[in-house]
Amino acid sequence: MSAVADIGGRAGHSAAARARGEVRAEGHVVLRFLVLSVIHLFIGTVQGVIQTFPGVAQWLREAGPAGHLIDPLAHAHINLVGGVTMGMMGLIYYVLPGLVGRSVYSPALAGASFWLSTVGVLGFFFSLVGLGIVEGNMIHGGMTNAEALNAVGSVHHVLIITTAFLMGFGYWAFISNVLLTVANKRGG
Ligand code: HEM
Ligand code: HEM
Repeated sequence: MSAVADIGGRAGHSAAARARGEVRAEGHVVLRFLVLSVIHLFIGTVQGVIQTFPGVAQWLREAGPAGHLIDPLAHAHINLVGGVTMGMMGLIYYVLPGLVGRSVYSPALAGASFWLSTVGVLGFFFSLVGLGIVEGNMIHGGMTNAEALNAVGSVHHVLIITTAFLMGFGYWAFISNVLLTVANKRGG
């Protein structure tokens, strides 16, 4: 029995393979999580280096709450949600079937958790950076933060709340899939 079995192939895992802990999640959902995790870490660390430049750091500081959207909010989430926790999700999808001796409960939910997390965290990141630059420029041009928020209008909240929900749904799809996998008595 191959160490990499299909994520949806609940049938076909031999008792011996389960006993050896060889039942594994499908390679490509795991690989997608790992590849996106390192891409997010790349984006986050490039941003981290850029925001150490004195001119950039000063611009962010003087942009006040708009600068806060870029550093730390966008930076923290692309690294911690996109990099660290999406990497963990991939690793958990990889080890869980071996631990419980059956495939991940739902391949569809695994796919949903991947796409929602990816679109959510990239959307959150680019929304925060975009809004931070636009509102930061307004503040640098002499506006108060309240005036800048007013000028941008509801787009500010719509972008942040929508992408926050997408990230949330990504997490909840993942969490429910893990709990259902552990609780599921039908596998194997
Ligand atoms: C080349 C790599 C990195 C560089 C150069 C970098 C740089 C920075 C800088 C300059 C700040 C702002 C500090 C401040 O405003 O006082 C910051 C904040 C932060 N970084 Fe990074 N960073 C890097 C990678 C990471 C990674 C990989 C993570 C997470 C896994 C991370 C998580 C954070 C967090 C959470 C904050 C906000 C801390 C707070 O709450 O103030 N960073 N980083
Ligand atoms: C659905 C998922 C998430 C959403 C929608 C979300 C949203 C937010 C928001 C709106 C803030 C800003 C609070 C404020 O400035 O008043 C925040 C702060 C923060 N979040 Fe998240 N978050 C999520 C998940 C996470 C996770 C999983 C981590 C870590 C693994 C994390 C790490 C942080 C950190 C370090 C800060 C503080 C940054 C700072 O101001 O220094 N977040 N988050």
